[in-house]
Amino acid sequence: MAGRGGSSAAARSSGGRGVVISDNWPGYSLDLFTYPQHYYGDLEYVLIPHGIIVDRTERLAKDIMQDIGDNDIVVLCVLKGGYKFCADLVEHIKNLSRNSERFISMKVDFVRLKSYHNDQSMQDMQIMGGDDLSKLTGKNVLIVEDIVGTGRTMKVLLNNIEKYKPKMIKVASLLVKRTSRPDGYRPDYYGFEIPDLFVVGYALDYNEHFRDLNHICVINDHGKAKYRV
Ligand code: HPA
Ligand code: MG
Repeated sequence: MAGRGGSSAAARSSGGRGVVISDNWPGYSLDLFTYPQHYYGDLEYVLIPHGIIVDRTERLAKDIMQDIGDNDIVVLCVLKGGYKFCADLVEHIKNLSRNSERFISMKVDFVRLKSYHNDQSMQDMQIMGGDDLSKLTGKNVLIVEDIVGTGRTMKVLLNNIEKYKPKMIKVASLLVKRTSRPDGYRPDYYGFEIPDLFVVGYALDYNEHFRDLNHICVINDHGKAKYRV
């Protein structure tokens, strides 16, 4: 995945565009890493190992500091899938802030969205715990998401937040999925652009399972059947 350029690289960093993981990226064999025993047999391969997620998140934190350092921000973590990325991102921003001339004063708030059933996106998205969005009026808001697929979910959330007239809204998503229906939405910051696969781990779930897996993995048919609801 960590190619340094050239057309043979499975993936390469593209500056502000994030790390692009191509459709033919085979991933890493599960045998090369450790993961919870209760998921043995349920996964196809490791798409992004935990260490790379954390390292890439550190760079996103630096980019965010560069752009919006010296401001007070409200980090709005989109639950539940965003909690790991948000926690690591906030930690990196805090460390960078402590070790530099620039500072960020952060408050962390949460909103909960649910739009997936099994591996299918549902038509209606529920926004829960979002009744105090009025606190965002006049604030610099950084929305932190785990994954942006069609962008529909993010657009609904953005429309809801914009009603409360924040001073600024930026979106950071760990992953962006290349879907067959790209509607043009790109977050301001993202870690990895991935193929149109259903992924789990690092807080991303399949019917609430796999949040306790450190690496981002591709679930197999056995896993899908086992945890289908
Ligand atoms: N995995 C988990 N949750 C998701 C995904 C995914 O691939 N896409 C949208 N929500
Ligand atoms: Mg999500």
